[in-house]
Amino acid sequence: MPTIVSTVLVTGANRGIGLEFVRQYLLEGRRVIAACRAPERAQALNRLAEDAAARLQIVALDVTDTASVASAARVLQEQPVDVLLNCAGVMGGPGQSLGHIDYVDWAALLEVNTLGAVRVIEAFTAHLERGAGRLAVALTSGMGSIAENTSGGWVAYRTSKAALNMAVRCAAIELAARHITCLVMHPGWVRTDMGGAQAPLSAEQSVASMRRVIAGLGPGDSGAFLNYDGLPCRW
Ligand SMILES: NC(=O)c1ccc[n+]([C@@H]2O[C@H](COP(=O)([O-])OP(=O)(O)OC[C@H]3O[C@@H](n4cnc5c(N)ncnc54)[C@H](OP(=O)(O)O)[C@@H]3O)[C@@H](O)[C@H]2O)c1
Repeated sequence: MPTIVSTVLVTGANRGIGLEFVRQYLLEGRRVIAACRAPERAQALNRLAEDAAARLQIVALDVTDTASVASAARVLQEQPVDVLLNCAGVMGGPGQSLGHIDYVDWAALLEVNTLGAVRVIEAFTAHLERGAGRLAVALTSGMGSIAENTSGGWVAYRTSKAALNMAVRCAAIELAARHITCLVMHPGWVRTDMGGAQAPLSAEQSVASMRRVIAGLGPGDSGAFLNYDGLPCRW
């Protein structure tokens, strides 16, 4: 059964792929809750809000801060969320290889990319239960695939996404009884602040493709690791 996409909650919404999800879902006529660390500085989101009026709600949410996540969940109280998109993420700098590991940076990456996404899923499970879509998608990376890792390096980023993959697989199993579908999706290599100018995909292309995939997802997809075009990725 196709996913019912009426209200979408997007983290990391003020730039990059998250912002593009907000833009495209608004264009499609959906209601969007855009979560970002500093709404007062989120210029692009505030510009979108001028046109979207009541269909765009901007909320403060830092995925590393349990109190901030809980506060956003409280602000949204009884609201249903059909699709939760965990887009917030950080990559860290190069030099994440043996002999050059910065353990403080590594812990910070895990805090955002792994713990942060789980924190948000936990805090918004009740909102998802109130929705009709009941879908939680976390943006992972092909760099989190153990099977595809042939070059090494980027150990902090890779492990944060590999751990995210496992955490979301656990969530898929644990939340099945509550009829919530959880999965991870690789957006492709995308031209954003993180992906850089050389990336082959624009955010518009990546998000348009992921939206098509998301619209067709159902409980049978729970626990999957999908590419932005819907094909399965190797773990
Ligand atoms: N771009 C690619 O090629 C690529 C490839 C594979 C996977 N991904 C994944 O796709 C997702 C989006 O990437 P992107 O390319 O859009 O990255 P981006 O342009 O660097 O944007 C990252 C977003 O995450 C937010 N963020 C960072 N730390 C946060 C925190 N503690 N709490 C809340 N939000 C936080 C940022 O907010 P601020 O503006 O406040 O910093 C920003 O909105 C990430 O999970 C990334 O790992 C991207």
